Amino acid sequence: MNSKETRSKFLEFFKSKQHLIVPSAPMVVKNDPTLMFTNSGMAPFKEYFLGNGKPKSNRIADTQKCLRVSGKHNDLEEVGMDTYHHTMFEMLGNWSFGDYFKKEAIEWAWELLTEVYKIDKDILYVTIFEGDESEGLERDTEAYDLWKQFVPEDRILNGNKKDNFWEMGDQGPCGPCSEIHVDIRSAEEKEKIPGKDLVNNDHPQVVEIWNLVFMQFNRKANGSLEKLPAQHVDTGMGFERLCMVLQNKQSNYDTDVFTPLIREIGAITNTNYGKDEKKDIATRVIADHVRAVAFSIADGQLPSNTGAGYVIRRILRRAIRYGFTFLDKKEPFIYKLIETLSAQMGDAFPELITEKNLITNVIREEENSFLRTLDQGLVLLENVIETADSKEISGKKAFELYDTFGFPIDLTALILRERGYSLNEKEFDAELQQQKDRSRAATKVETGDWVVLEKDDVEEFVGYDTLETQVKITRYRKVDSKKEGEMYQLVFNLTPFYPEGGGQVGDKGYLEAADGGVTYIVDTKKENNLIIHFTKTLPRNPETTFKAVVDEKQRSRTASNHTATHLLHQGLRNILGEHVAQKGSMVHSRNLRFDFSHFAKVSDEELKQVEDFVNARIREGIALEERRNIPYQQAIDEGAIALFGEKYGDAVRAIKFGKSMELCGGTHVPNTNDIWHFIITSEGAVASGIRRIEAITGDAAKQYFIDRSESFASLQKALNNAQDPVKAVESLQEENSALQKQIQQLLKDKAKNLKGELKAEIAQINGVNFLAKKIDLDAGGMKDLAFEMGGETENLFVVFGAEHDGKVLLACYISKELASEKNLDAGKIIRELGKYIQGGGGGQSFFATAGGKNAAGIDEALEKAKEFLK
Ligand code: ALA
Repeated sequence: MNSKETRSKFLEFFKSKQHLIVPSAPMVVKNDPTLMFTNSGMAPFKEYFLGNGKPKSNRIADTQKCLRVSGKHNDLEEVGMDTYHHTMFEMLGNWSFGDYFKKEAIEWAWELLTEVYKIDKDILYVTIFEGDESEGLERDTEAYDLWKQFVPEDRILNGNKKDNFWEMGDQGPCGPCSEIHVDIRSAEEKEKIPGKDLVNNDHPQVVEIWNLVFMQFNRKANGSLEKLPAQHVDTGMGFERLCMVLQNKQSNYDTDVFTPLIREIGAITNTNYGKDEKKDIATRVIADHVRAVAFSIADGQLPSNTGAGYVIRRILRRAIRYGFTFLDKKEPFIYKLIETLSAQMGDAFPELITEKNLITNVIREEENSFLRTLDQGLVLLENVIETADSKEISGKKAFELYDTFGFPIDLTALILRERGYSLNEKEFDAELQQQKDRSRAATKVETGDWVVLEKDDVEEFVGYDTLETQVKITRYRKVDSKKEGEMYQLVFNLTPFYPEGGGQVGDKGYLEAADGGVTYIVDTKKENNLIIHFTKTLPRNPETTFKAVVDEKQRSRTASNHTATHLLHQGLRNILGEHVAQKGSMVHSRNLRFDFSHFAKVSDEELKQVEDFVNARIREGIALEERRNIPYQQAIDEGAIALFGEKYGDAVRAIKFGKSMELCGGTHVPNTNDIWHFIITSEGAVASGIRRIEAITGDAAKQYFIDRSESFASLQKALNNAQDPVKAVESLQEENSALQKQIQQLLKDKAKNLKGELKAEIAQINGVNFLAKKIDLDAGGMKDLAFEMGGETENLFVVFGAEHDGKVLLACYISKELASEKNLDAGKIIRELGKYIQGGGGGQSFFATAGGKNAAGIDEALEKAKEFLK
């Protein structure tokens, strides 16, 4: 059964069990401060387990793209070394939200595996949770009894808390789990060691394929468990491993999920997979990592220097250096795999097709820049080797290369080994650990448990219609972070505060109690479907009713920038072309930032046209047409633009200003007139094929004009109240350049006269025409003069000293024949003489210069010059 069929059979099966089939959520998580990437199938449904929202159906199934490269679930270093770990993988899952529990989950899992996929029962093992005294948890006998119907008892194994109690993170929903493992070894192997001894023992052919989690607890901040209000099922089956079993392969990488990529890598790098272990590892690393990176870029996450972008950059760099070191690829090639990947997976994940060009360009650029880094690193490492005073290179030096230049440590170690040096790895590890501790301490956040004041499932957002309303706090918690200090997070029964999202910043404002006490809200964010208001202090009496007031000025400035962003998007598509698509945006009260796909720099003329376009829409006074809760497809059919990397529900909100129509949750001005004016302040590149425009509107635009006008007035004043300052400046520039020319001429004349005088001062020392003299010329003048004299006088040795324009200078000229005949070197001489002026210099054997600080040393230097002729 090929992988496509395997995927669809899973979904069909659960559809027949009344599950709603949903598309994979994005792999890159936006608007959830606790998670960078979707790390399991259940992550997009977290809020339902926590009871903060209601799912569309109590039974859901899907295939979810997951990435496990950071935090609690991190498989990065394993990838490539073995045949069954991945960074990015698909997790097939079925969920019950307070609906069915262990019985159905177990029965259906068995039915699917043995009757639909027809996996031989004799190669399957199952595990159940053995209980844990320290947590007060009992053995899962319920699951045991359910399994007993299908599986011989000697194949039902007990598992400990590490293997059979699943937790998403340090806090949050969790519960005992029951895993299904396969043993795909040969009969001969099985004869030697029974499969049950290898379950959960990192054997590549005895692996877990499906995990059934029975969610019933919430892990609290203090580590204790509390019962969830309802019981849920969360299952996750490793799609690539399932394919391995169904395709009778011994490695995930031998299935049709990976073989097209592996063949392509082989063709590009001229290697044969399966012939050399090191090359095979590199091939697997690249085949795995290119998927992780491509899916992330398709989801809107570009490689960068911080956060999720940095994780992606590191994954790609890991692939590049494996190619560089083991497949000998010194030029970009990973980008070439995108063609194969999108052809192969585009059916299930169409974003790989729509974003193919972007993914390809971004990866190629990243490859180019990291290969340059590797080149520079090699030179630096060479330097380290040359200046080493022992055969062991210090870990500190290697860490410097790693930390400052991104030069990978395994590459450093390998090169050193090849050159007969060793690396003090202990020292390197210690440096690395110190750095990790420092950054961990800097980002440490302690989150307390929610104190629930009032049970309220649905927190309404009323901020599109009002900026002020009466609210009650339904829950709050304390958060202590190194960065922000102590803060409180408050949730209300309803709120006018817009939470950060869709590129727009969160609202600020305050809460006012009946007794007049005020608590400032410094930011608003969304987490697990809760709108969280950040405050520095807790209101004195949190249980009373408050007036919640949004800072109107900040909100209206932000709204003005947000609407302008839509008009800018429309303007760019109009003027540059329909290929322009939003690739990110940031809407503040200060300004707006808009990233978009375009292959060239936007010219000044085009920028002007875009600016004019937006300002024309502003002057037209177009009223906002807002459509809430319309079906997604209807909005798209009506021409609304859906934005890159955003996750949309079935019902969406469409924002329309004339011909501009976008799906958007943000806040907008009622009429484009309110924006007042739009000014582009910068245009530049963010990545290959992606441009960024920054702009201001409203009050900021007004201030911009005021500042300009004030500078203009000061300029006029400085130019003696010139009516036309531009003309005045131009005439000053002309005057200036005429004066420059005159000065040059005067200096030349001066040098000519000087040459005559100096010629007379040339002395004969040991058959050499010698002159050492202090003159008043700049470095260029000294050089010209020396060469001119050299052209007229043979066998010449000249040293000039000068103090000019605050600089202390020396120059030494030696006729070429003289230099080679007497083995004189102007470079060496000038370095010696440079000491008297407390400076350094260098040059060639016939001419060299030095610059220094000590003018008083010039005479002494000139005095010493003749000693070189002795
Ligand atoms: N959430 C469970 C896992 O990721 C199914 O293993």
